[in-house]
Amino acid sequence: MKPYTIDFDLLTGICKSGKVQPVQRRVSQMKMQFADPEAAQKAIDSGDPVLYEFSTLLNDEKKGTLAFGSTIIYPGKIGDEYYMTKGHFHTILDSAEVYYCLSGKGFMMMETPEGDVDLQEVHPGEALYVPGRWAHRSINHGTEPFVMLFVYPGDSGHDYGTIETKGYRKLVVERDGKPVMIDNPKWK
Ligand code: F6R
Ligand code: MN
Repeated sequence: MKPYTIDFDLLTGICKSGKVQPVQRRVSQMKMQFADPEAAQKAIDSGDPVLYEFSTLLNDEKKGTLAFGSTIIYPGKIGDEYYMTKGHFHTILDSAEVYYCLSGKGFMMMETPEGDVDLQEVHPGEALYVPGRWAHRSINHGTEPFVMLFVYPGDSGHDYGTIETKGYRKLVVERDGKPVMIDNPKWK
């Protein structure tokens, strides 16, 4: 591979030259991961909004490479739960990841297979280091799109199934206008 340069917009995270098409995820792709599937169904029936999109600017999946890109989580709620990403472990569990917040604000919800839980809030100009072994999910509790740059080892892989089956131990919901972390009643 040769060195190369690629653009992406700092505010939207979008690759303006169109070299990379974002992956979009809508409510219908995550219905059962929300605490309130009836609220999710209502959102699906009224247009199935895009919850988030991400552009992987490079990932050739080889050992020694770095995958990188940007992710945008839109503002909104399903019931009282904020828009969020699916979340995943890396298939090579020890693979770490760095996120850098470009605009908006939000949380990263993280947990290990052993049951440690950590919630970090990030703002523009802050970097977040997600160590290996920690599943990670981005949550937008703000009113603007929450945009982050991410970088991780190219051979990490993505294990979505564990989170899809078990859920996260904790959720972030709005109570009296403020975000609070609660136990996930559906966690298995
Ligand atoms: C890559 C990574 C991010 C997410 C993106 C979308 O390892 O953590 O690029 O892929 O924020 O979230 P998911 O992949 O959970 O749908
Ligand atoms: Mn990741």
